[in-house]
Amino acid sequence: MTSDKRGMHGIWASRWTFILAAVGSAVGLGNIWKFPYITGENGGGAFVLVYLLCILVAGIPVMIAEVLLGRRGRMSPIHTMQAEARRQNAPRFFSGIGWMGAVSGFFILSFYSVIAGWTLAYIGEMASGTFNGADATVAGETFGNLLGSPWVLLGLHTIFMIMTGFVIARGVKHGLEDGVRLMMPLLFVMLILLLGYAITTPGFGQGWNFMFSFDFSKLTTESIVVALGHSFFTLSLGMGAIMAYGAYMPSEASLTKTIFTVAFLDTLVALVAGLIIFPIVFSHGMEPAAGPGLMFQTLPIAFGALPGGAWIGTAFFVLVAIAAWSSAISIAEPAVAWAVEKGIKRGTATIMVCVLAWVLGVGTVLSFNEWGDKQFFVTETISESVTDPVSGEVSAKTLSSSFHLYANTTDLKAVPLAEGTERAISGKTFFDILDFLTANILLPLGGLAIAVFVGWLMRREDSANELQADETVYNVWRFMLRFLSPLAILFIFINGLL
Ligand code: TRP
Repeated sequence: MTSDKRGMHGIWASRWTFILAAVGSAVGLGNIWKFPYITGENGGGAFVLVYLLCILVAGIPVMIAEVLLGRRGRMSPIHTMQAEARRQNAPRFFSGIGWMGAVSGFFILSFYSVIAGWTLAYIGEMASGTFNGADATVAGETFGNLLGSPWVLLGLHTIFMIMTGFVIARGVKHGLEDGVRLMMPLLFVMLILLLGYAITTPGFGQGWNFMFSFDFSKLTTESIVVALGHSFFTLSLGMGAIMAYGAYMPSEASLTKTIFTVAFLDTLVALVAGLIIFPIVFSHGMEPAAGPGLMFQTLPIAFGALPGGAWIGTAFFVLVAIAAWSSAISIAEPAVAWAVEKGIKRGTATIMVCVLAWVLGVGTVLSFNEWGDKQFFVTETISESVTDPVSGEVSAKTLSSSFHLYANTTDLKAVPLAEGTERAISGKTFFDILDFLTANILLPLGGLAIAVFVGWLMRREDSANELQADETVYNVWRFMLRFLSPLAILFIFINGLL
């Protein structure tokens, strides 16, 4: 029933095209936007170290497993997993990995498109010279104004979704190969140029230390969960995106070498992005923990200070938008490929997937304005500062702490406080929930399921045949996939839950 679907989507021209497409998928907002801001929120160095460990221990072995599955199945992740689970007599649960991935894909695409829309806005802001000679205040206000305009955000989200649908509808091969071949090298040149600038800023040393001096006291269980989740997000793992691309990979290409190249380039781009952004943060007395606006409030200052910066900045945001574009395509591809295998025309399938993700994206658009105060998992803490009568030290003493599954934070803040007490509120908006659910829960769970399936349930000769690596490489990989990767994921999960 499934054999006629095999290979119906075509094959990449060569191993290098797969590398380009996979790097196009992996390198995106995750590297340039998300990595620096979560590093900033989680205290820097120690977080970076944990992230690198997660890439090595869980990311790379699972990535090899995912591409291996795709190339063996030569179908959409949903059908590949169904067929492969049957062939290996695996428990029914494993045939559903593809479905779980498709759901995560919709969630991710919905917010990814909204953030990518911000980069489109910044192309215009840069070109019109908004940031010439701008300081942190101008940069902050420009970003705040953008987030405060739901209609603008909605329009940009719509444009980006149409761009994504356009390429997917043309087919991954024709739509993707050309674009990625041109844009990846340009993005690298641009990052090197910006790194050169960052090195000359007074904050470079501080930025470097922030990223690479490992202060483990700043590391919390939550930040370890975030690091693990991000290692999957940035490598496009755990939802079938890279599995779908693996399905179009030539049979004779070496999997291990290819994956190492992809993971290395992806990690390099993230680290360079951090080394560009943090020196600017410290040179201008900004906050590393500024959250999702970090990239949008730091880089424009750098461009504003450079001669010809408006042009360089315009080009830069064009490249970031293209990087996001080539990633968004891979997020949608598994669901579209599945629908095509079901007999739906590629164009129709694309419209269905994009419209669904677009509708969900409206929630993310509103999270930054109208719904900003509508939050879930809200903790409200009231504290007072007490001065130690002996040492004179001032410390905060928690008076009460309350938890609400849902709360309107504006209403919470409207309740008057007793004199001398302070209130802190933390909760999650619609966007925060989607982000947390996908990156920190669904992707690692998908990765865990893939590791267990390929490591424990797939016959050894089957994985060995597909990998075609030399004996030692195969054994090291298999050992990591069977033991290190699942244990690392489980350990982090269980700690995170407690
Ligand atoms: N890796 C991309 C980035 O870093 C985003 C992405 C593309 C992705 N495909 C994915 C994330 C699949 C998770 C799953 O921006």
